[in-house]
Amino acid sequence: MTINKHILLGVSGGIAAYKSAELVRLLKKQGAEVQVVMTQSAMQFVSPLTFQALSGNPVHSELLDADAENAMGHISLARWADCLLIAPATANLIAKLSHGLADDLLSTLYLAATCPVYVAPAMNQAMWNKTVTQENVETLQRHGVKLIGPEQGDQACGETGYGRMSEPVAICNYLADALENQNPSPVQCLQGLNVLISAGPTREPIDPVRYLTNRSSGKMGYALANAALKAGAEVTLVSGPVSLTAPANVQLIKVETAAQMYEAVMSRASDHAIYIGAAAVADYSPVIMQPEKIKKQEEQSTLILQKTKDILADVAKLDKHPFTVGFAAETHNLEVYARDKLARKKLDMIAANWVGKEQGGFDSEQNALHVFWEKGDKVFSMTDKTRLAEQLISLIAERFNTT
Ligand SMILES: Cc1cc2nc3c(=O)[nH]c(=O)nc-3n(C[C@H](O)[C@H](O)[C@H](O)COP(=O)(O)O)c2cc1C
Repeated sequence: MTINKHILLGVSGGIAAYKSAELVRLLKKQGAEVQVVMTQSAMQFVSPLTFQALSGNPVHSELLDADAENAMGHISLARWADCLLIAPATANLIAKLSHGLADDLLSTLYLAATCPVYVAPAMNQAMWNKTVTQENVETLQRHGVKLIGPEQGDQACGETGYGRMSEPVAICNYLADALENQNPSPVQCLQGLNVLISAGPTREPIDPVRYLTNRSSGKMGYALANAALKAGAEVTLVSGPVSLTAPANVQLIKVETAAQMYEAVMSRASDHAIYIGAAAVADYSPVIMQPEKIKKQEEQSTLILQKTKDILADVAKLDKHPFTVGFAAETHNLEVYARDKLARKKLDMIAANWVGKEQGGFDSEQNALHVFWEKGDKVFSMTDKTRLAEQLISLIAERFNTT
């Protein structure tokens, strides 16, 4: 892939700043023209000379620099850029950008920029998980900033969790992909196809006021419905109870229980070219729904559960079955469980993701996926669910057309 664009790379003061030197090298190798802007803190971590040598351009760091203002002021630098990429983005910088502060060159450039902005956060996992940081990140996303990462793993400080900056090669690939798809009309890769998507949780009633459910928000399924629509598909969305608004142009079928979802999907699956099972369907449901509210009497109480019907496996077994894509949310042994589910249920593809306390997935704005099919796999690194859904829809269309 080539990036024949002007990239303005903002580097802020985190330990991952050293990785951005490699990022400049990779961007240049792909054909990009790169100019680097550093915060004062960033210059404590890596010398501007490194970025100057690698980018082939002088590094910018001063907002109130008379010489710099003559040659290339912050406005003209912002106009020069086809995109502003900030990597690493510190918690401090994210806080400043989300609140519109402009007290140094990089934050002022952000305000002056009219081009797309991409931010690759990098920080200690506790800093990343702090509510105020998450709120700032959400604000930036609402303002149209695209997030790249962060990733999960070991950190320079010795702790483990989310907050590692995405690897330079992943950032470079993400950017190449995003810039390629920036202006042209969306690729109509599912033009004329009927796509059936199930989304959200199910609710299994225990008595008139209680039910069993799970943490699924439906965000991924709804993002997939949007992405499939954008790709030209006719979309039917079978949705469990969620607090999301479905896209206007989908046929929305609202259900509550696993049995209702089974019925809604099975009765329609054969009329669709592709089925994406993104719902978190209950595996078990109470054998009996008590007609009256259960009273708090006994010290212990037993709920007898019955296995629910397997929607994915039964869709894949239909004589006229659609191209069937499942999801797997795992807390451990992701690849083993995902590949097992793929083979056992005879699916065409499975999109697996880690779930757990600090791993995105359920109810978060972001997710990462590892997608498997019989003879291959593809990793989509942590990004917002809208972008992830677009990437997954492209891959589904590609696999659908080659099988
Ligand atoms: C050794 C060291 C490493 C740091 N690493 C990070 C980091 O990875 N991410 C982060 O958000 N802040 C980190 N900080 C704190 C920032 O440097 C600090 O918040 C600074 O004000 C950021 O300035 P800037 O956002 O203008 O670049 C680190 C500080 C030190 C001393």
